[in-house]
Amino acid sequence: MSRPATKPQTVYDVWKPPEQRPLRQLPGLLASSLGLLWESARTEFVLVAILQVVSGAMGGVLLVLVKNLLDAIQASSASQDFGPVLGWLGVLGVLTLLTTFSGSMQWELQRILGEQVDRRAMLRIFEVAGVASLEAFETPDFHNRLERAWISSGSRPTQITQSLLSLMSSLAGVLGVVIALFAVLPVLVPLLLVGSVPVLLLTARGSKALYAFNFGLTPLDRRRMYISRVLTHREHAHEVIAFGLAGFLNARWRDLHDQRLAEMRTLVRQRMWLGALSSLGNTLLFVAPVALVSYLLVNGTMQLPQAVAAATGILLLRPTLQGVIWSATQLYECALFLEDYEQFVRMKDELVAEHGGGPAPASFSTLRLESVTFNYPGVEAPALRNVTLDIGAGQVVALVGENGSGKTTLAKLLCGLYAPLGGRVLWDQTDTAQVKPAALRKSVAVLFQDFCKYLLDVSENIGVGRHERLGDPDSIREAAEHAGAHAFIRDLPEGYRTLLGPEFEGGHNLSIGQWQRMALARAFLRDAPLVILDEPTAALDARAEHELFDSMRTLFAGRTVLLISHRFSSVRSADRIYVLHKGELVEQGTHEQLMQLNGQYADLFTLQAAAYQSNGVAAEAAERNGAVP
Ligand SMILES: Nc1ncnc2c1ncn2[C@@H]1O[C@H](COP(=O)(O)OP(=O)(O)O)[C@@H](O)[C@H]1O
Ligand SMILES: [Mg+2]
Repeated sequence: MSRPATKPQTVYDVWKPPEQRPLRQLPGLLASSLGLLWESARTEFVLVAILQVVSGAMGGVLLVLVKNLLDAIQASSASQDFGPVLGWLGVLGVLTLLTTFSGSMQWELQRILGEQVDRRAMLRIFEVAGVASLEAFETPDFHNRLERAWISSGSRPTQITQSLLSLMSSLAGVLGVVIALFAVLPVLVPLLLVGSVPVLLLTARGSKALYAFNFGLTPLDRRRMYISRVLTHREHAHEVIAFGLAGFLNARWRDLHDQRLAEMRTLVRQRMWLGALSSLGNTLLFVAPVALVSYLLVNGTMQLPQAVAAATGILLLRPTLQGVIWSATQLYECALFLEDYEQFVRMKDELVAEHGGGPAPASFSTLRLESVTFNYPGVEAPALRNVTLDIGAGQVVALVGENGSGKTTLAKLLCGLYAPLGGRVLWDQTDTAQVKPAALRKSVAVLFQDFCKYLLDVSENIGVGRHERLGDPDSIREAAEHAGAHAFIRDLPEGYRTLLGPEFEGGHNLSIGQWQRMALARAFLRDAPLVILDEPTAALDARAEHELFDSMRTLFAGRTVLLISHRFSSVRSADRIYVLHKGELVEQGTHEQLMQLNGQYADLFTLQAAAYQSNGVAAEAAERNGAVP
């Protein structure tokens, strides 16, 4: 379904299918990787770069030293003066020591460099996640991209640095040896350089195959990771143990992994062939120059010291040249992966750019949904169809309807979590499509049906309702009191400082009802003109539920409440009741009006009432508690 032009940009508009990634993009990616390095750890980067280049150039210096040493040995066998030989040996020793030491220093510096780059890359991913819409989080594409960015950000920025640095170092090495070799036997240089091109291309193909493998397998890997989460996380452990699911889930995980292994076998076969071919190239690259030197030596065109120097040169050049090939392909491979990361990070600018819009109204006298239609992405049937309703300031408005009728969806639209596909949400005259969604959300307090349990301490669990007031214990306590949570919080080992969640040291678990009261306390703390309570008492006991509904008008005095509930006893006192059915508004009015109408509301109400009245004693007791319609 195509979205109207007025709709704010979402991840669907930003998401573009992956293009073929030519080598052309390498310079840009390299530049942004260097930018990342520069931002994250410039001192370490510069130091490591210098050390790499110096140690790389050491190969050429060694070559010159070996030649001088040989010359000195030849001269000393005639003169019997071993002084110069010892001198050159001393220089060789000192240089070797310095090279080894700088090598180990590089490793340590790179450790910090890598850590800082990872940190920066992660923070950038969080920045994008921080502006992504709820719709984005409900799309596989977003998660595939996030996963790939995540994986690439873990190791690739460090790797691209390392390969860039080692490319610089190997190039310096090659340059040193090439200059020295050029003096000894010039023809070797073009032979070696031209010979390495096919080897380079073959290894690059291997990298591309690896990238394609990872790209293609992301959805499968995500499903497998989900199964491991179910198998290993506390939130699922009770059902997994109670239903004896470990074996079933293990088998499912193994199946998914078998598919990965099969794909990997194909990849490895392909890369083995490419590896065999490039080994052949590498061997030829080594054997051909040695054969040439041997021929020239036998031929008499070359003298022994010159031949020894040439052979040493070839020996030294081989690893450095292989180093160049290896680091160049690593660089290419990293670039392929990092492009995923870069694309993901770039999404932030595009998403934020479209997030413009005017300031949100601080309050309203009427909140109006006007012919609102909403479809979840990829779902044909609308979750809301042509819904028009009014909510007056200061009213308690109830929304009822069967499961799946669209109540929660409507609540999320009111919070600015989704934008309507058709119609408008108006705060008086202000169309919320013209308003910054984040600003609008500041004026809404919502208790979600599937509220979050933060494994933070109690006051933080409440304080996140308005995080600016995290440091205000009095407001937090007041919110807890309103939510009926203060009594049990007081009994916790460390009161408001008690950490929640038994998987952490000193953590304490709450009952689901107690958790729901924490979430309710967040809504109280938020202190917004519009309060949305989506099944706020689903986990509360009868007394708590009764107390909440009884005191709702006092507790939320001066605010507007949209109450979604299946408890008709609580709904009946609402100023206005809207009934949703399959995404459409089918009835509206007060309890009395709707009962007279004798439609769906009356049906549902009577059904619930009958359940209580079937047992006279229970009905009577419940009636006293106010829990009966
Ligand atoms: N994130 C989602 N993606 C796709 N469909 C959804 C999503 N959330 C809800 N739906 C569908 O939208 C319809 C309305 O759901 P919801 O608003 O949660 O109903 P209610 O709160 O009234 O039980 C249901 O058919 C449900 O399957
Ligand atoms: Mg719901």
